[in-house]
Amino acid sequence: MASHSWLMLERESPRHRLPDDLRAGDPMGGRDCGWVEQMLPFVRQFSRPGDTVFDPFAGFGTTLLAARLENRLASGCEVDAGRIDLIRERLTRHGLLSGTTLLHGSCDALDDGALPPFDLCLANVPYFGCRWPGTPSTAQLYDSQSYAQHLEGLRHVFYRVRSGLREGGACIAMVQNIRLGDRVLPLAFDLARILGSLFVMEEERVLVYPHESEEEKDSADARTDRRHEYGLVFRKQRERIDLKATAALLDALRAQGHAFTLLGSFARFLQGPQDTQGTPPADADIRVDPDPQRLNALLHWLRDQGFALTSWGDPVPLPLHFDSYRGRYYFRADRIDSAGALVRLDICYEQ
Ligand SMILES: C[S@@+](CC[C@H](N)C(=O)[O-])C[C@H]1O[C@@H](n2cnc3c(N)ncnc32)[C@H](O)[C@@H]1O
Repeated sequence: MASHSWLMLERESPRHRLPDDLRAGDPMGGRDCGWVEQMLPFVRQFSRPGDTVFDPFAGFGTTLLAARLENRLASGCEVDAGRIDLIRERLTRHGLLSGTTLLHGSCDALDDGALPPFDLCLANVPYFGCRWPGTPSTAQLYDSQSYAQHLEGLRHVFYRVRSGLREGGACIAMVQNIRLGDRVLPLAFDLARILGSLFVMEEERVLVYPHESEEEKDSADARTDRRHEYGLVFRKQRERIDLKATAALLDALRAQGHAFTLLGSFARFLQGPQDTQGTPPADADIRVDPDPQRLNALLHWLRDQGFALTSWGDPVPLPLHFDSYRGRYYFRADRIDSAGALVRLDICYEQ
């Protein structure tokens, strides 16, 4: 596993399969249930015995079961109460319920402190366009009314994941691009972009399922034979930036007459390395007036210098329609040069 970017999954072990009676009682008949065999290599590689593995979309408890089988503690959020009961029953049958924390609801709605810290986040994300037949809930992402709303919901969940994940821990999301009607939606790639705004990307794994399931035999989609998904591997860690190029950018901004106040770790770094306690800054934070005209000029200039402009992972088109960005606090400007060096500027326009 450690040396391959792909994983071939031949079959699911009958010992770990979701039992038929539990599958039959589910509103979607157990559709989208992952395999324990799919999760085990990730649990083994990205956590240690005694660590806590968290799944924000616990579903049928497949990740949680894989974690408990490997002597990790397991914790999961699930918005559907029926599935919480199902997970409890499934883990009880394995004698592995102890060491498991189940939280009913979406993790982004939990009070501070309700979500215990964890060492690894490992999840299969809910797909868009599923028409959830179970109990309705505004937090149920299977019920998202639009693709944009679905991505926004995923962003909220992973934003909360970030606060619970220990520094250096991995956040791994399993996801496919999806076909909906005549359209292909790049869900895997859009999610990678969202995760990239919260974590540092480490790699992607491709999981291949060469078997033929009943579901696929019935599939009306004869155009492709898609039996793969991505395991997107991200880390909660500080970005390494090009410090000299970042300092030069700040000088250039001043020379261009753009007014700003430098804040945080880069300001401390410029005062002297002793002020950053050996940890180099991961970006330069500047505060600017929320004046649409001046912001527009600043963002235009950065774009012309080769910076990509984003707001929480979404591209920011110019000219700037500032009203749409109220309540989003800051813009991010990233420039990666041809040697892979990164300059990152966070432009805070709200407190
Ligand atoms: C793909 S399934 C997960 C299956 C799981 N990996 C397994 O194999 O056991 C996605 C799950 O996310 C749940 N869900 C959807 N939106 C949610 C939210 N905002 N917070 C928590 N769970 C949510 C759904 O009810 C569904 O059970």
